[in-house]
Amino acid sequence: MAAGSREQWNSRVGFIAAAVGSAVGLGNMWRFSYLTAEKGGAAFVALYLIFTAAVGLPVMLAELTLGRGARKSPIQALAHYGGDRWKWLGAVFVAAGFIILSYYSVIAGWTVRYACEAIFTGFSDDPGQHFAAIREGWSAFLFHAVFMGATMGVVSGGVIRGIERVAVIAMPALFVLVCGIALYAATLDGAQVGYRYYLNADFTNAFSMDVLISAAGQAFFSLSLGMGAMLTFASYLPRDSHLPNASLAIAGADFGVAFLAGLMVFPLIFALGLQSDVSESTLGALFVALPKAFVSMGGVGRFVGLCFFVALVVGALTSAISLLEVVVSAAVDGLGWARQRATLVLGLVITALGGLAAWNIAVLDVMDQVANNLFLVGGGFALAVFVGWVMKDPIGEVEIGAEGVRWFLGWRILMRFVVPAVLLVVLYHSIPTTIKNIWELLTTL
Ligand code: PFF
Repeated sequence: MAAGSREQWNSRVGFIAAAVGSAVGLGNMWRFSYLTAEKGGAAFVALYLIFTAAVGLPVMLAELTLGRGARKSPIQALAHYGGDRWKWLGAVFVAAGFIILSYYSVIAGWTVRYACEAIFTGFSDDPGQHFAAIREGWSAFLFHAVFMGATMGVVSGGVIRGIERVAVIAMPALFVLVCGIALYAATLDGAQVGYRYYLNADFTNAFSMDVLISAAGQAFFSLSLGMGAMLTFASYLPRDSHLPNASLAIAGADFGVAFLAGLMVFPLIFALGLQSDVSESTLGALFVALPKAFVSMGGVGRFVGLCFFVALVVGALTSAISLLEVVVSAAVDGLGWARQRATLVLGLVITALGGLAAWNIAVLDVMDQVANNLFLVGGGFALAVFVGWVMKDPIGEVEIGAEGVRWFLGWRILMRFVVPAVLLVVLYHSIPTTIKNIWELLTTL
């Protein structure tokens, strides 16, 4: 490509597919379900929805505005609008990309393994013991490395021929799979108990700080916010694209798939009487409870299980692509590396770093908390301060291509006051807990 020219999405739909692909992933199908189970069902869902709308959406619009305006990856984009003294924030984003992708890919590796088992051997008769055997160690590392290889393959193909091409096929396929499984789950006897758990709000402990922190972290993680992923994808947009509509479409699709995931997971688990497996939910619960459900359903279960894990693999892949793209585009724009070289070198570094998470699930858990509760929420806070207070004319920039939208002043007020204030409260409470968890981990290793 000629110097100074930047790749651009082939079509509007291509960008939306890639951005939805980034947002929809393990966060929607694995993390959302396990947090909903752990934090008490519908009340968590309600808080999460409020957070997505009031905090997630404004930050999404801010990231898209910065990326499209600067046409650069995060470090340079922040410098473009705020001067060199804001480069550190872009560097924090890139660091978040390293950490998240390294453990995300280990979990994705489990899903690849389960999909292969569904095809070749069937699920194990003792899923609890099986999961304990495969979640850590060399085999976990191997599947993680395979998944990283696939991610690197797509990213090295570039924006149009790699990322966009995969997303426009993967996203409709994922949607069909998720809808199909949710419909199937609805036909099971006893599915209602699952729906009741999922959808009947019990607000008694909804407003505890703990639930609030989780809802905030989950909203950022699920929408891919707070680390420049949406910013990076928006840097390949044409100047006249309609950013408010894009934000609404991405956030709407993301919440839709998370909601559908609950409609598949909870009926399946409750209909088969496996609620005790998830009531004290831990990070691995779904990888035990769902295979149990699939095994007890016989041949149909094997097929439904295959569809489920294929959906997870597909969602994880398009998300991992966006995580790697943040890191790769930083090296391409900042160091002048060729895309293939950046993908290979940085992908291998991330694969090695993921070895830590593959070696010990407690490390994976702490990496997940550090990334979400500190990096993403902290990154979101800094971004809100940046767009709310530092950037010169954010409304002038966001308005391009969206003339006639009347609520930009409301967006500005949210970005200046509401979003930073809410995130500050969340950070104030989550920092001590997260540090305590890291400390506990270090003392048990
Ligand atoms: N949004 C992805 C998911 O829900 O699985 C995870 C993710 C992707 C987080 C990209 C952050 C990111 F930048």
